[in-house]
Amino acid sequence: MPVTVVVGTQWGDEGKGKITDLLSDSADLVMRYQGGNNAGHTVVVGKERFALTLIPSGVLSPQVTPVIGNGCVVDPAVLLEEMAMLRSRGVDTSRLRISGNAHLIMPYHRKLDAAIERYLGRQQIGTTKRGIGPAYQDKFSRHGIRLQDLFDPKIFTQKLETALKNKNKLLVKIYNQLEMLADPIIDEYLHYADELRPYVADTSLLIWEAINEGKQVILEGAQGTLLDIDHGTYPFVTSSSPTAGGATIGAGIGPKSIDRVLGVAKAYISRVGSGPFPTELQDEIGDKMVAIGGEYGTVTGRRRRCGWLDMVALRYAVRVNGLTDIALTKLDVLSHFDKIRVCVGYDALGERHEEFPRQQRTLYKCQPVYEEFPGWNEDISSVRQFKDLPKEARQYIQYIEEHTGIGVSIISVGPSRSATLFRD
Ligand code: GDP
Ligand code: IMO
Ligand code: MG
Repeated sequence: MPVTVVVGTQWGDEGKGKITDLLSDSADLVMRYQGGNNAGHTVVVGKERFALTLIPSGVLSPQVTPVIGNGCVVDPAVLLEEMAMLRSRGVDTSRLRISGNAHLIMPYHRKLDAAIERYLGRQQIGTTKRGIGPAYQDKFSRHGIRLQDLFDPKIFTQKLETALKNKNKLLVKIYNQLEMLADPIIDEYLHYADELRPYVADTSLLIWEAINEGKQVILEGAQGTLLDIDHGTYPFVTSSSPTAGGATIGAGIGPKSIDRVLGVAKAYISRVGSGPFPTELQDEIGDKMVAIGGEYGTVTGRRRRCGWLDMVALRYAVRVNGLTDIALTKLDVLSHFDKIRVCVGYDALGERHEEFPRQQRTLYKCQPVYEEFPGWNEDISSVRQFKDLPKEARQYIQYIEEHTGIGVSIISVGPSRSATLFRD
């Protein structure tokens, strides 16, 4: 398919990085369309393990042009560090292109992110403290500083000084922090300008040209549907639009250009940070999922909360993203469970819910209604054909297909590229 969106269907960490890397093998351009270094995408290539945060997972395929789209927020220090890390491991980063319209994460964004979380106390979102929310907030209030501003020192200085006046009031008077000075920030950021200049491009035009030339394009989402600012479990969400609609805005293309919307779903589900999570298991089964699935954040190292697959949420993801098919990941982790459960509805406030509740209040009260499946209790990590999976695993996948109405086209049974089953 010429243009594919890869989107997370849950609360992030579904294995989007692995799936994007896999599809990148036959792609020409891979573009991240939202988020920033709050994302953590682990990609395993042979014996090498790469933890990427901002650079599209396609960077590991030598024929791919990796692009950071206008919908992303860029922390230049992190970006340059990630580029250096890749270069030191033999990955060519010279093909990277970054939109000049992407907004910059500034030092005061990071400071505010941490201060606001502290101020919220028990109501905190559990952000990654990378300055994501404050950077998007400035974008939408039209006080943001974009990558292109770095290349005009006078404009950059002016914008920074205006922003700092306001931020310092917030930092000092409300959040009890030290004032931040403009000069060190100007020096630091203008230095980044020199390093980043060769990579800045009109990325909307770049993708337009690639599409017109019939090239294979992947739009790589970060986070996931339930962390979407509009469609997620607000306010416990991120500040961008990971859902497929966000791909058009964050890349600068029209919706008609998209051919395939591949939803990545973990065979169970996880969440990092605060917020409602109907199928969360706060017991030894949840602990086992964390241990076997290695469910610790790539970015912050935090333990991920885990639970059974939630079909209500998955059907919701099918709907709000217009998914065409599903990539089911980490099926191998379920090999270690005698019985496997799937949430098919919620009971809340005396009512049965089969659609994802729009009321935050309801979501907190949801008691999952489960269907139980027998486990397969057998190692499937070396299976490469659907027909060779144990009967119980095939039934589990077929159940997902029947109840979402779309096909599971990719099944992942391990972190590496080869541990994957493709179906027609
Ligand atoms: P992303 O944020 O959606 O890209 O996901 P992460 O990279 O944060 O988390 C997924 C983790 O699971 C990574 O450590 C992957 O290497 C790993 N992973 C991906 N697919 C599979 C799989 O099928 N089986 C197992 N066991 N691990 C997987
Ligand atoms: P990937 O791309 C999982 C969560 C944070 C927090 C909330 C808001 O690896 O799937 P933010 O720093 O974005 O303001 O935090 O969103 N979060 C993620 N959880 N995977 C991610 O990215 C996430 N990015 C943000 O934990 O609850
Ligand atoms: Mg992740």
